[in-house]
Amino acid sequence: MSAPKKLYIKTYGCQMNVYDSERMVEALGGQGYVETKTPDDADMILLNTCHIREKAAEKVYSELGRYKGLKAEKPDLKIGVAGCVAQAEGEEIMRRQPLVDLVVGPQSYHRLPEMEAKTRAGAKALDTDFPEEDKFEHLKKRPKAARGPTAFLTVQEGCDKFCAFCVVPYTRGAEVSRPATQILTEARDLVERGVREITLLGQNVNAYHGAGPNGDMSLADLIWALNDVDGLERIRFTTSHPNDMADDLIAAHAECGKLMPYLHLPVQAGSDKILKRMNRSHTAEQYLKLIERLREARPDLHLSGDFIVGFPEETEEDFQATMDLIRAVHYGTAYSFKYSTRPGTPAAERDQVPEDEKDDRLQRLQALLSQQQRETQDAMVGREVKVLFEKPGRLEGQMVGKSEYLHAVHVADAAAQKGDIARVRIVESGPNSLKGVLA
Ligand code: SAH
Ligand code: SF4
Ligand code: F3S
Repeated sequence: MSAPKKLYIKTYGCQMNVYDSERMVEALGGQGYVETKTPDDADMILLNTCHIREKAAEKVYSELGRYKGLKAEKPDLKIGVAGCVAQAEGEEIMRRQPLVDLVVGPQSYHRLPEMEAKTRAGAKALDTDFPEEDKFEHLKKRPKAARGPTAFLTVQEGCDKFCAFCVVPYTRGAEVSRPATQILTEARDLVERGVREITLLGQNVNAYHGAGPNGDMSLADLIWALNDVDGLERIRFTTSHPNDMADDLIAAHAECGKLMPYLHLPVQAGSDKILKRMNRSHTAEQYLKLIERLREARPDLHLSGDFIVGFPEETEEDFQATMDLIRAVHYGTAYSFKYSTRPGTPAAERDQVPEDEKDDRLQRLQALLSQQQRETQDAMVGREVKVLFEKPGRLEGQMVGKSEYLHAVHVADAAAQKGDIARVRIVESGPNSLKGVLA
């Protein structure tokens, strides 16, 4: 038998890319590939890319440039680009970087094995179609390897919202939900392989509606069905849009035992003028009302958000409205970005905010958000949380895991084992994690 070929895969962008990369490793496993952690001994290098901001996309080309020497040494090395840059730029990638043998968009990963074979035959392979067939059905034949305690599971892909700044509706296509029966099978399979926590993924995960055994299921229905899976202990989902936060999903936060008290609910901005120009189709007040209802359902809910500063035509007053909204909500975690012009999106054509103004706003916004994050974290000291242990920590004898609220928690206790869920009393709040002792 010949030695296995080695695949080096580098993943950028969101959690869905992490999930997709796992699927690609499995798909190419059927072609005799095993994963390697370094590009140096790889027979194939695959970059799973992100197009969300200009910087993310440019990183791909600088990374590709680095493989020039390797490819010269090893002419059989195949280099591929997957993900959202592949979808957005297609053939242009091969023109700009002739080292690239293969370009595959997110909807065509099930075609990777035949594409790989094509590159082995000396040809270039390109597929950025939005095919009719269900890629997940084609990707499901997987090896039953043991897994860590946490996993992602894509339930919905694509977006119909068309926020004026965003490339996702173009790179991931229209919203498609996977059938619930397929998701439940995959979840049970993950649990059999050691998984105790599943994060359901979708660009608009709360818009989920998929076929179940007794008809159409909402995301809340799916969560309730997963709640009945023995051995699965925790359920999370991301990312949600405020407009799809249905009553049954809010109620699930109050009633569903395995659903964790953490919600990522991006609002992007706090000025109604800007929200309108972003095509978010909700106001700041509607968002705040929603937060109120969620907190009524689950008083200890930790909230997370995404913010964009310097969207075209954002004034200082608009920016202050965002700061006010942040003060009103008080976020446990948040991600914030300077607006980045994306070719082909509506906002790219509008009056841009000067770069130094964006920098200044981002700095002020991040100061407020990190203060809130700090406060949320410090407030955990003295409290008891449940931690799912995931891996050894940086220090000898340490184990780290996540609380219900997604805080990283570390303990120094040999009794803490990977995959265990244990009661932990928080004794200290550090910059990026909490320190606890087993209760
Ligand atoms: N609903 C999506 C959002 C994906 S993009 C999801 O599933 O996560 C993640 C975040 O990137 C967005 O919420 C937004 O805050 C930010 N973003 C998107 N386009 C951007 C742009 N052109 N410039 C800066 N930030 C952007
Ligand atoms: Fe992008 Fe808006 Fe869709 Fe999120 S909801 S993926 S920000 S278009
Ligand atoms: Fe990036 Fe595509 Fe995800 S643009 S954020 S990898 S959906």
